[in-house]
Amino acid sequence: MNTRTVLSSFAAIALLTSACGRSDNGSASPAPAATASANASVRVIEVTGNDAMQFNVTEITAKPGETLRISFRNVGKMPKQAMSHNWVLLKPMTDGEVNAFGMAASSKAPTYLPDDQSAIIAHTKMLGAGESDQIEFQAPATAGTYPFICTFPGHFAIMKGKLVVK
Ligand code: CO
Repeated sequence: MNTRTVLSSFAAIALLTSACGRSDNGSASPAPAATASANASVRVIEVTGNDAMQFNVTEITAKPGETLRISFRNVGKMPKQAMSHNWVLLKPMTDGEVNAFGMAASSKAPTYLPDDQSAIIAHTKMLGAGESDQIEFQAPATAGTYPFICTFPGHFAIMKGKLVVK
């Protein structure tokens, strides 16, 4: 590689970096340029949970291996001990298995995650009213339907959705 090639490589990297920095404008987080560059291909999905035990998003579609950021917020007002929410993505399983997982998780205050976490692909923290959490992960490489639930006691039966990878 001669000097000229090296210089043009640097120029290309500088261009890419500045382009990524611009693409992050308008985001709520004032991330430094290096972080913005690393996160350039992340798709952010805004998810909320409310006092009626509802997620605003019940179906998410992703490409295999796509990097997703779940920006999750409890938009309710009820006390934390009565109404908290998390977002827990699970491996493909039957409804009966989801229920069994939800039951096991429900008894595990304060995290509400079961001892055996092998079925969990990604999860947020358990959030009280007004709290938020962000998680970033890669969608599974295998096409399929991946259930997500809130594991606060009594919620998993209705507070649920699915990530469809295809
Ligand atoms: Co909940």
